[in-house]
Amino acid sequence: MDLSSSLLSPKRGFVGLAMALACCVATASAQSSTSQPSAGRVDDERIDRIDDNDPGQWLAYGRGYSQHRFSPLEQVNRRTVRDLGLNWTRKIEVRHRLQSSPIVVDGVLYVTDSWSAVSAVDADTGETIWTFDPKTQRTRARWSCCGGPINRGVAVYRNRVYTATFDARLVAIDARTGKKVWDVATDDYPSRVPYTISGAPLAAAGKVFIGNSGSEWDHRGYVTAYNAETGEKEWRFFTVPGDPSMPFEHPEMEMAAETWNGEWWKLGGGGTVWNSMTYDADLHTVYIGVGNGTPWSRKIRSPGGGDNLFLSSVVALDPETGRMKWYYQTTPGDNWDYTATQDMVLADMEVDGADRKVLMQAPKNGFFYVLDRIDGELLRAHPYGAMTWATHVDMETGRPVENPDVVWEEKPQWILPGNTGAHNWEPMSFDAAKGLMYIPTHDTPFFFALPKDYRETGVYRPRERTMNLGVAMGAYRTKLIEEAGERPEPKGFLKAFDPLTGETAWKVQNKTARIGGVLSTAGGLVFQGDGSGTLSAYNSDTGERLWEFDAYGSIIAPPVTYRVGNTQYVAVVVGASFTYLDFGKLLVFSLGADHALPEPPSRDRSIPEQPPMTASTEELAQGETLYHQFCASCHGYGARGYRNADLRLMSPAIHDAFQKVVREGLLLDLGMDSFGNDLNETETELIRQYIISRANIDRETSGQ
Ligand code: HEC
Repeated sequence: MDLSSSLLSPKRGFVGLAMALACCVATASAQSSTSQPSAGRVDDERIDRIDDNDPGQWLAYGRGYSQHRFSPLEQVNRRTVRDLGLNWTRKIEVRHRLQSSPIVVDGVLYVTDSWSAVSAVDADTGETIWTFDPKTQRTRARWSCCGGPINRGVAVYRNRVYTATFDARLVAIDARTGKKVWDVATDDYPSRVPYTISGAPLAAAGKVFIGNSGSEWDHRGYVTAYNAETGEKEWRFFTVPGDPSMPFEHPEMEMAAETWNGEWWKLGGGGTVWNSMTYDADLHTVYIGVGNGTPWSRKIRSPGGGDNLFLSSVVALDPETGRMKWYYQTTPGDNWDYTATQDMVLADMEVDGADRKVLMQAPKNGFFYVLDRIDGELLRAHPYGAMTWATHVDMETGRPVENPDVVWEEKPQWILPGNTGAHNWEPMSFDAAKGLMYIPTHDTPFFFALPKDYRETGVYRPRERTMNLGVAMGAYRTKLIEEAGERPEPKGFLKAFDPLTGETAWKVQNKTARIGGVLSTAGGLVFQGDGSGTLSAYNSDTGERLWEFDAYGSIIAPPVTYRVGNTQYVAVVVGASFTYLDFGKLLVFSLGADHALPEPPSRDRSIPEQPPMTASTEELAQGETLYHQFCASCHGYGARGYRNADLRLMSPAIHDAFQKVVREGLLLDLGMDSFGNDLNETETELIRQYIISRANIDRETSGQ
């Protein structure tokens, strides 16, 4: 069989592209001499006082510890933004999702790719200073929650750069030389399948804090603190209790175990801290945002009920000991994949006449929380997005009041917010002077139903090495959806939201339901990208769009801004999209610059004529279920590709090589692991048959 010719055809998409370009894409510019002896000169005080002393820097994930993602720079403003143009670009040679939030320290910009590799770049010119490849195991992609490898960026601290890898290591790099200093495995805890990490590490108080990802794979969540200098483990805080017949690892677990029922530890529990952590220098506290339960269905996870601490909670920890100071649970007895891992913004503000130190979060469940960060007291909980699951939060008890008419265990249905939340990890931005939070939100429903076997027999047995969601998938789900009627249309918005009154000052609808992280500035601007690849700048008072740029890709990463010399730059990482044959890239803008971004060649997305379909209706249903157990998270629900290759577009050569790709890891380098231990030849062929059947239907209806 000759794969090579078909690999080069535009229809082949990514593999063809990668192979065709591997020879000729210039890998960033040569090593430059800009590396500075004091590189990475960042400490607690500098990050904490960034607004007073370092207006031109972006020192930590959310700019400073308080995570406002608001910059005092105003060279780019409502009046000048029309002259904002492309200054330099840098190729990021992956086609996986890109969510990296760059950090900029004293003229050096640090950015990661999806495999957690780091580049230190001259922030003025884009010249490479060094690159560091942690050699992340490609087989780990398989264990991602939702579509392959991701990385949200590094931490820079005391002359080091810290990257957390998708294969669950934490690596310290010398900020000047780019050489590894230490490398520790954070997954030194037994698990059914390997742990992954997608979030950026947090560095503070002489330590580096890191969580992990993938509750859906039955993981037990935890956060570990490592000594920033030596990499030694200092403490670990588990977010859900383990087997209660074993000693509790720390006292909080004994308390948490009271809130669980059944044999939860056998099914995992979940609660991974896969995104947000922040440090409060005033109160010397680390806040962690805890993820959803595994499986999603609480009836299966904890039969008999219970709040299931610390799922979906904000937990305040002592950074020295890892002991808990307080917690607030946003969604007791999580039943919807409602994580509280969304970024937490710290501010000092007047609430009801009193000065308060507050923590603000817009977790997936649709309520915007304002908490007193001294003791976790609930101050506000206004809805910020469309919701059907709850009516309001009872301010006396601090608990959401679930909608008695929306019980999906009894009546399978579309629910808002869906499992992707009214707001997900895409960072929001806070303008303290205006008292407005700019939130990327989406109304994206999810169809919740119990799995067929469980509904019929009361027995739940997820297939080995598949995600443990505890909700219906595959052919059965498709049938229930058909019976339920219309799916509410997903929509994406940028909202200017007042956390205290719950009022929306303005909102704009994005071109896509896929939306990007947000930056706001003293120039009176709010920057945001979207899934169509448009980066926009809005008037922060009115939401009027003042500027836009077509980046020919998909923007979900948050833009950042910084200054070098007298120039203010705006930088954003752009992921590859389905529309173009292209890789990811970093784009950096400044006033008066006018570099053109050539439009990449388009991808032919027409569905080709399919090979013969031989399977019976019954076999197709089997193929559909297997597809949704093993492939849908990366190749799209209903075989409609949206992140990785669209399998309806497979060439004859890939159809021929299907068993080799799926069972022998032919495309492992690209992040397509082998399923040889999971699927036999017949099952693999049934999946292919299902894809053919879907492609035929969509060819007829020209559905995409
Ligand atoms: C963790 C993510 C992930 C999962 C799960 C996954 N794939 Fe893939 N798959 C990829 C990536 C990444 C590629 C290569 C890059 C691309 O084309 O997007 C790929 C490529 C392929 C290709 C080559 C397609 C082409 O036209 O180039 C086939 C065939 C394929 N996958 C089949 C499957 C099947 C069948 C399953 C389920 C048994 C599956 N994949 C599960 C990530 C995944």
